[in-house]
Amino acid sequence: MKIAVVGTGYVGLVTGTCFAETGNHVTCVDIDEKKVEKLKNQIMPIYEPGLDVLFERNIKQGRLDFTTNLKEGIKDAKIIFLALPTPPGEDGSADLKYILKVASDLGPILSEYTVIVDKSTVPVGTADKVHAQIAKNAKVPFDVVSNPEFLREGVAVDDFMKPDRVVIGTSSDKARKVMDQLYAPFVRQGNPVIFMDEKSAELTKYAANSFLATKITFMNEIANMCELLGADVDMVRKGIGTDTRIGKRFLFAGIGYGGSCFPKDVQALAKSAQEVKYDFKLLTSVMDVNQEQKTKLIHRAKAFYNGSLKGKTFGIWGLAFKPYTDDIREAPALENIKELLALGAKVKVYDPEAMENVKELFGNTIEFCSDEYAAVDGADALFIMTEWPVFRTPEFDKLQSLLRSKVIFDGRNLYDTQAMEDLGFTYFSIGRKD
Ligand code: UGA
Repeated sequence: MKIAVVGTGYVGLVTGTCFAETGNHVTCVDIDEKKVEKLKNQIMPIYEPGLDVLFERNIKQGRLDFTTNLKEGIKDAKIIFLALPTPPGEDGSADLKYILKVASDLGPILSEYTVIVDKSTVPVGTADKVHAQIAKNAKVPFDVVSNPEFLREGVAVDDFMKPDRVVIGTSSDKARKVMDQLYAPFVRQGNPVIFMDEKSAELTKYAANSFLATKITFMNEIANMCELLGADVDMVRKGIGTDTRIGKRFLFAGIGYGGSCFPKDVQALAKSAQEVKYDFKLLTSVMDVNQEQKTKLIHRAKAFYNGSLKGKTFGIWGLAFKPYTDDIREAPALENIKELLALGAKVKVYDPEAMENVKELFGNTIEFCSDEYAAVDGADALFIMTEWPVFRTPEFDKLQSLLRSKVIFDGRNLYDTQAMEDLGFTYFSIGRKD
């Protein structure tokens, strides 16, 4: 099948590459000429484990190509995916200007029946808006389908190739058949393709991300209670996660959720609620708690250093919002660095993938180190912000000899508290006894 993907951001590139991998011919369209030039030269603009192999193979085999020309890109395409950015506007609602612009460009150039698919996370009612926009100038029949994406950064290829489920919102039988055929290779193990109306599909995406953000936030609040009551959040997590109604995943307390999706989507759903005059109290609390949780360890540090961090040097392990990505959007590490600098502290950092992105933001106001040990050399204490595997079993002897004092503030609960005590560390973590 011939497919076009408009927008070569994170979702667009993964979508295009994975559909090519199942034998489709995919053309990715983007207005950014430099980016398209790079893609044509097989330069992958994002870091995503495993994607490069599929990307190169499909380009070589002629199933994946790139253009800046929308008309050329959609030629003969049976399906056109819209994977365009929906950044939060000033009021927190998703800004649809990119999607609606492409929709209006598509109208006059569609030449036969086409299924247009909203892949981006978009507010309820967007499929109708896109339909209306295309219909203004369309001369051929078409359908607009909502097909939200549930992939996670870092494991995107696996999530796309073997999805837990595929959600498709459409009221058209014709579009349903086309989408069914497209997704058949991805659900061979029997995972469901769930068909529903467009609005329910759109809301499903926000509900999923907001639910997961709430689940994490709930555990962060339980962790805060554990600290006050002398309980251990890891024990509580195991105790409740074994209940199949709750489930083991996404119950890890930490320094708050980040990334390009959860914060934006929780905010957008809260805004949608406001628009229909519904007071979604739970979401407001989730946002507030998450904000406080992000700099929780700084309060601990302040208390530990008798109120002042001035003149202290801190090593920071991890900058990305989670492991296996170079993405620093809404990463808790950024807020911690800003706060530490504002309090007069010096900061040395190391991250396996995200250093370049952080350099653009902080320049030489912080020190970028070549590895995790260099980042703690001469530091008063270590802050752990991202649970990269390389931080899980460090050489503690080396750490002790490099740190000026044996103090660790761990935002990801990487180490056993007893073991740290035995090693002589002053170890602060989240929701466990210090
Ligand atoms: C999230 C969703 O998990 C995907 O299903 C969705 O497709 C994607 O957003 C999106 O909307 O595009 P992602 O942002 O890549 O994926 O990251 P997650 O792995 O979900 O992690 C989000 C945040 O939650 C991270 O900051 C992570 O550290 C935090 N987290 C996760 C916890 O604090 N505790 C946990 O137990 C799990």
